[in-house]
Amino acid sequence: MRTHLQTNLDQYSTQAQAYLDSPVHAQGPDLARAQALVAQAIPASGQALDVGCGAGHLSFALAPHLSHVVALDPSPPMLATVQQAARARGMHHIEAVPSSAERLPFPDASFELVCSRYSAHHWTGLAQALKEMRRVLKPGGHLLMIDVQGEEDALVDSHLQAIELLRDRSHVRNRTVSQWRALLADAGFANVVHESWPVHIDFSSWVTRMRTPASRVAMIREVQSDAPREVQEALAIEADGSFTFTTGLFWAQANV
Ligand SMILES: C[S@@+](CC[C@H](N)C(=O)[O-])C[C@H]1O[C@@H](n2cnc3c(N)ncnc32)[C@H](O)[C@@H]1O
Repeated sequence: MRTHLQTNLDQYSTQAQAYLDSPVHAQGPDLARAQALVAQAIPASGQALDVGCGAGHLSFALAPHLSHVVALDPSPPMLATVQQAARARGMHHIEAVPSSAERLPFPDASFELVCSRYSAHHWTGLAQALKEMRRVLKPGGHLLMIDVQGEEDALVDSHLQAIELLRDRSHVRNRTVSQWRALLADAGFANVVHESWPVHIDFSSWVTRMRTPASRVAMIREVQSDAPREVQEALAIEADGSFTFTTGLFWAQANV
């Protein structure tokens, strides 16, 4: 039986190019907002760590504002893609490092910024990972977390998590805003700012990017079409299965 990390590596290791090309990952108002927050709060000499960097879109967005960016991911093909794409963009100050969020291979107080985008919903040890992120931040350093938000309404949330898991076996959980606030406080973060945006998901490219088997695609469509009206409305489910989720951004500071 495979561990969750092995499942994750199976899911992502053949999909690095698809994630580099994915419009959901390459674009989005969250990237522009992340750039503005970093430009205003982090000095140009700042060192950053991007945890669960995937194909590297957050690293690429922030690198022009920073002196060094460590792009960290457990998937070697993702890291190879980041290195190649960074070189193509002339971003020679992006360094790819293999590891997982739950154990960061850096001394205490190494970075001015620790960030992560669309990755935390895969982590089995989110509370431990946030403590690690706090440990490697310099006192007063900033944390930027971006991820799909869980729904505070339990019925809508159950449907969202069900279709996410059917599409991607490496899905763990989209956390709600209240869960994020509790986790951040517990890990030693303060001055938390939260923003969010609706993100339209095109069903066909969403399942193709993850190579979801046809049998599971059919199950997702069944869950969607059987969903009660309040779920269909909250997730704006369309006739072809396309729907809308919410992306949340949390900007916080390491307690001093
Ligand atoms: C959707 S991709 C990330 C997208 C990317 N950050 C961006 O901005 O486009 C999710 C990534 O999380 C990584 N991942 C999964 N489990 C992880 C863990 N425990 N620690 C760190 N990264 C993890 C996967 O290998 C995958 O590359």
